[in-house]
Amino acid sequence: MADLINMTGIGKSFGGIAVLSDVSLRVGHGKVVALLGANGAGKSTLMKILSGNYTRDAGEISVDGKPVEFRVPANAIAEGIRLLPQELSVFPDLSVAENIMLGALPTRGAGFLRTVDRAVMEDRASELLVRMGLNWLSPKTRMGAVSHHVQRIVEIARAMAGNARVLIMDEPTASLAETEVKMLFQIIRRLQAQGVSIVYISHYLKEVFEVSDEIVVLRDGKNAGLFETRKTDVDTVLEAIVGNRVGNLYPDFAEPDHTESDVVAVSGLTLEGWLRGVDFTIRKGQITGMHGLIGSGAEMAGRALFGAVPRASADSATIEGRAYAIRGTRAAVKAGLGLVAAERKREGIISMLSLRENMSVSNLPRFTTGLTIQRKAEAATVAEWIQRLTIRSRDAEQAIGTCRAAISKRYAWPDGCSVT
Ligand SMILES: Nc1ncnc2c1ncn2[C@@H]1O[C@H](COP(=O)(O)OP(=O)(O)O)[C@@H](O)[C@H]1O
Ligand SMILES: [Mg+2]
Repeated sequence: MADLINMTGIGKSFGGIAVLSDVSLRVGHGKVVALLGANGAGKSTLMKILSGNYTRDAGEISVDGKPVEFRVPANAIAEGIRLLPQELSVFPDLSVAENIMLGALPTRGAGFLRTVDRAVMEDRASELLVRMGLNWLSPKTRMGAVSHHVQRIVEIARAMAGNARVLIMDEPTASLAETEVKMLFQIIRRLQAQGVSIVYISHYLKEVFEVSDEIVVLRDGKNAGLFETRKTDVDTVLEAIVGNRVGNLYPDFAEPDHTESDVVAVSGLTLEGWLRGVDFTIRKGQITGMHGLIGSGAEMAGRALFGAVPRASADSATIEGRAYAIRGTRAAVKAGLGLVAAERKREGIISMLSLRENMSVSNLPRFTTGLTIQRKAEAATVAEWIQRLTIRSRDAEQAIGTCRAAISKRYAWPDGCSVT
């Protein structure tokens, strides 16, 4: 029997840069296939091609052995291939049944007299709710009245309406709590038992090993590994993802030099509503993790030290032995700090400016004498950092928003960041 999905030789470029080259993916009937790879490896692009959201530049796709051509999502949906949206998109004021059947509302009558057939709609919605294990939920319930998590399951039911055979989940657990992940896995197993195939993208290897039958790894837009989940292990899969022996993942940091003095020493870091008297030190060449639940303040410590939020202060702070006062981002850059913002697209880069402009905009004083910009010095520094950060681009003039795996360095000090 042919595989349900067989993608071969898939190629895709954006603005002249290859994002996928010669990629293959097979999905068997009723299988859960995990699609893994580092950020920018091409996972979402491949799935957008499979779901008809993007068209491919090269390669073939067949469903049940029959070649198909997907130009718009409706073409893929007609073959039973559904991409689950990453963000919850529901209509709280409509009923659960309406939310499920939105794309395929059953009607009766004709012409001006055509109306939604509520009875049929609710019957079909009920069937789907039962398939999801939500037997207790009445299809008449107002969507806004059920919990966020149940809404998420109703959304899966919507994707399943119209006989979906393949459900694509692109990082579905990114914002779920642990119990919700468990429920999602129960639904995946339930759907699998009903013969539905699932492509599951996740960064959490533990989840992947729990839920998948096969693991497909992409690296730099190419196939980098195909594993039967129960016959492989985490280290082997990680190695395929990073293209390196896992033991060598952090070669420069494997043995931090503890004779080195502290590069950053902070005491009494305070930000009203977030941080009260936080102390920490960071040594040269060290990566220091800061962890806490959402809202604990961990996510604000870097921004506070950088002066990227108003009214942050510290009792005392030194950077490489020199006293540092929190006085805004300009002072931070001058002191040798760099900040890579969590929301890179909004805070980290100016997407229509070039790579070069993005890198030099926060460091203009370095490249200026009087009123002129030293283009040579600027170009050399930018070229060096394109190499050191392995940024894929045609050249330094490419708009950063279109660069592959562009790492935002807007705030970073080109000579290396003490803190990012
Ligand atoms: N619409 C687009 N235009 C330009 N580049 C894109 C577009 N979509 C994705 N890319 C680029 O393609 C590469 C792969 O992205 P993506 O498929 O989202 O990777 P993944 O999902 O594995 O993190 C990235 O470098 C990304 O910047
Ligand atoms: Mg992605």
